[in-house]
Amino acid sequence: MLAKRYPYYLANQPVSANTDLDVLDKYSGKRATRVAKADATAVRKAIVAAHRAREAVAAFTPDARRDVLEHCVKRFSERFEELALALCIEAGKPIRDARGEVTRLIDTFRIAAGEATRIDGEVVELQISPRTRGYRGMVKRVPIGVCSFITPFNFPLNLVAHKVAPAIAAGCPFVLKPSEKTPIGALIIGQVLAETDLPKGAFSVLTCSNEDAAQLVEDERIALLSFTGGLVGWDLKARAGRKKVTLELGGNAACIVDADPGMPLDHVVERLVFGAYYQSGQSCISVQRIYAHKDIHDKLRKKLKAAVAKLRMGDPRDEKTFIGPMIDEAAAKRVESWIAAARKGGAKVLAGGSRNGNLVPATLMEGVSHDSDLYRKEAFAPVALLEPFEDFDDAIASVNDSDFGLQAGVFTGRLDHAMRAWDRLEVGGVIVGDVPSFRVDNMPYGGVKHSGLGREGVRYAIEDMTEQRLLVIRDSIR
Ligand code: SIN
Repeated sequence: MLAKRYPYYLANQPVSANTDLDVLDKYSGKRATRVAKADATAVRKAIVAAHRAREAVAAFTPDARRDVLEHCVKRFSERFEELALALCIEAGKPIRDARGEVTRLIDTFRIAAGEATRIDGEVVELQISPRTRGYRGMVKRVPIGVCSFITPFNFPLNLVAHKVAPAIAAGCPFVLKPSEKTPIGALIIGQVLAETDLPKGAFSVLTCSNEDAAQLVEDERIALLSFTGGLVGWDLKARAGRKKVTLELGGNAACIVDADPGMPLDHVVERLVFGAYYQSGQSCISVQRIYAHKDIHDKLRKKLKAAVAKLRMGDPRDEKTFIGPMIDEAAAKRVESWIAAARKGGAKVLAGGSRNGNLVPATLMEGVSHDSDLYRKEAFAPVALLEPFEDFDDAIASVNDSDFGLQAGVFTGRLDHAMRAWDRLEVGGVIVGDVPSFRVDNMPYGGVKHSGLGREGVRYAIEDMTEQRLLVIRDSIR
């Protein structure tokens, strides 16, 4: 169902360049399709076109922006299975997860369609002393200008949607560089946008190398850079000059399971298994560290071990597959070496097995040294670590013992513990009653510490993509 070749989109138009990029089926390792590859000249042209389009895109009225976003909702719904299959092939995402991502893509555009006509301002009372009598103040939000977007391989549709849909709602032209490993989803989004009447130059979707994308970071005509990916984001920020920068750079998310006699442990296990292993742990908020209270630790350990051992690994097209391939063999080898190093350091594997190419079995470990890569870095793989704790405050300290801080999960029946977690966990979001992997696309999403800067979630991204402009009117001279 994939096309034989996909063009890139430069200033709203499809372009079939001479150079191609192969997109591999991540399960078979064979070429699935080809995409036209953009070069540095195309990137420059896209920036020029977006810069020229600034006024036209800002003047494109909110109802027209909403109509564009609603068109996307309609077309993505019509192309649902095609989009899911594309994800399954290009990202190796199990088909059930792939369908879940398409649903979220549609949600994100639908939320943006609603927000497009709700970008309001406020009246500011300026008459605070005799000096300011007769002055009125009003603030509205105006589009920031050209945005550049760089997106990762793990959510080829929805992480693109979290940048593109708010930009359309806000009235900002943009240039997007999707991951070279998974460009198809973004190119289909480009194809659908090309069906709309967005002003010329409003969008470009360019499959290009990181070197050629340097202009998206450095060009002074760009007002905002939004990057989702690895810690390299901090280097990009250092090169970004005066532009606004938002970064979502992942983490090694933790989940606390508190002592609670009434805790439905089977449900907790089900959610932990989902959070740690869905799409092979390749999510910035997948559960990597599990801290279990000593009173329930042994029971949880037994149930988790059994549930993880049962997870079915294989062809992501198979409806029963839970663990599909990792994005490539290099990623699989990296985590294999981290597991081996942790074992050498005394850790025990409770469930797991041998790597087969880029397939890594769901792995559960205990006794992992706090100095190891597996504990300290972002695994981005189907691996979770289990550890007991005695005191809730110690568990909070363990979660915070990380360079990262994106989201954390807390299963507890105690309101005081839930509130303490919210007060003290150094993360962008605390999820009580579920795993840190929970996300709905209108909630503020982003991290602290090394995990990033700023928040996505449509309305919050729109805030970044717009600026406040004040109007002061002196209504009389007294
Ligand atoms: C991410 O991996 O950063 C995104 C997670 C999600 O949207 O669920």
